[in-house]
Amino acid sequence: MLLAILGYTIDILLMLMVLSILYCFFIATFTAPFVPVSKKVARKMLAAADLRSGENHIELGSGDGRVLLLAARMGANSTGYELQWPLVLLTKIKAFFLRRKIHVHLKNFFKADLSAADVITMYLIPSTMGKVAKKLESSSLKSGTRIVSYAFKFPDWQEAKKVEREGLAGPIFIYKVGENKSQISNNK
Ligand SMILES: C[S@@+](CC[C@H](N)C(=O)[O-])C[C@H]1O[C@@H](n2cnc3c(N)ncnc32)[C@H](O)[C@@H]1O
Repeated sequence: MLLAILGYTIDILLMLMVLSILYCFFIATFTAPFVPVSKKVARKMLAAADLRSGENHIELGSGDGRVLLLAARMGANSTGYELQWPLVLLTKIKAFFLRRKIHVHLKNFFKADLSAADVITMYLIPSTMGKVAKKLESSSLKSGTRIVSYAFKFPDWQEAKKVEREGLAGPIFIYKVGENKSQISNNK
C-alpha cells in the first residue's frame, strides 16, 4: 500500500516536471528564451539609464533577477515580470540570501501596469520589440521615464542615446519619454 502511494507520488512529480519543462520550452519558443545579460552589461544598462536611488525600476522579462538585484543594490525599487516560474523562484531565493528587497511577479509583462516606472529595462528578441513599443505607448508612462533595451532597438523609435563599448556584444539603446508622451521616439 505504502509502496503504491510512493509510486503514484513519484509519477505525479515526474509528470509535473515534464509539464514544467514543456511549458518553459513553449515560452522560450514563442516569446524570448532565457539568455541572461552579463553583470557588466547589467551595470552598463542601469548606468546608461542614470538610475538613481529611490526611483522605480521595472524589468520586462526579468529572467533570474540579476538586473533587478543590481538595481535594488543601487537603491531603486525594483520590480520584475517573468513568465517562467523556475526563474521567478530562483530570483526570490537569490533576493532572500542577498537580503535585497525586490518584487518579482510570475506574469506576462504585456498585462502589467508600467505607469509608475522611472526606468524600464529589457533584453528581449527583435520580433517582439514592435509589440513592446505599442505596450509602452499605451502605458501612460511618466514624462522623463527612461527605457533601456539591450541589443535590440524599437523598430519605429529614434533612440535618445546608444551605448556601444568594447566588451558589449550588442549596443544598449536608451529612449526617453518627453512631455509629449505619444512621442517617445523623438525625445532626444
Ligand atoms: C533574453 S531573457 C533576459 C533575462 C533577463 N532580463 C536578463 O537580462 O538576464 C528574456 C526573458 O524574458 C522572459 N519573457 C519573455 N516574454 C515575456 C513576457 N511577455 N512576460 C514576462 N516575461 C517574458 C523570458 O521568459 C526570458 O526569461
